Amino acid sequence: MKTNNQSSRSGRFITFEGIDGAGKSTHIEFAARLAREAGKEAVMTREPGGTALGEQLRALLLHEEMHAETEALLMFAARREHIRQVIEPALDRGAWVISDRFTDASFAYQGGGRGLSAEKLGRLEDWVHPDLQPDVTFLFDVPLDVACARRAGDARVCDRFEREQEAFFRRVREAYLKRAAAFPARFRVIDSTRSIPEIQGQLREIILGMTR
Ligand code: ADP
Ligand code: TYD
Repeated sequence: MKTNNQSSRSGRFITFEGIDGAGKSTHIEFAARLAREAGKEAVMTREPGGTALGEQLRALLLHEEMHAETEALLMFAARREHIRQVIEPALDRGAWVISDRFTDASFAYQGGGRGLSAEKLGRLEDWVHPDLQPDVTFLFDVPLDVACARRAGDARVCDRFEREQEAFFRRVREAYLKRAAAFPARFRVIDSTRSIPEIQGQLREIILGMTR
């Protein structure tokens, strides 16, 4: 498996994944605070987005209808820019990069959700970041009904992904779990049905372990 650790970079690359409403955004700020308390520079970022161009692509991706392959290509286009402008420079200077989603989301949403083949997505992954993988990926896992109830409590207008039906999110969740099983050294599957303090206790243990 390719990991950031195999390169000469001194930073750490941590990604947060899960179906919409699983609770990942809730914990990203907490993870950054832990890194800072340990004396590290923490860069919080997100996909799609993270750069000026990436945020423009995000607006298109979340609100314009498009072919599933166009969607995958734009996700990877935004990612290419994100890696060059934000992720690699931060890792090179020893920072911790904490990203709300990365390539596992493409395998889950465009692969599992939209039905694109893992082989095609793998080719894009090899093209866009042949030598970069997260050091740790937290997968916030919850049953669909829990995620759905949490999303329902959120007052925002739903984007194109959030408007998808239950079957779509079931496939996305399954694809995430399959990916976690394929890369057990990198993934930490977090049972996100637990309370926020319980989850934070687990995150603290894992993240502080990475600072040693
Ligand atoms: P995501 O970023 O995965 O889409 P959020 O972090 O935005 O999800 O969480 C969705 C909603 O669920 C928010 O209102 C948040 O406060 C709530 N939430 C997150 N984690 C938990 C939890 N463990 N228990 C109860 N509610 C939670
Ligand atoms: P996210 O920022 O998690 O949404 P929000 O801030 O509304 O909680 O992600 C936006 C959406 O983009 C999310 O539904 C998942 C989707 N997405 C993909 O389909 N493929 C990808 O590669 C990425 C990074 C995100």
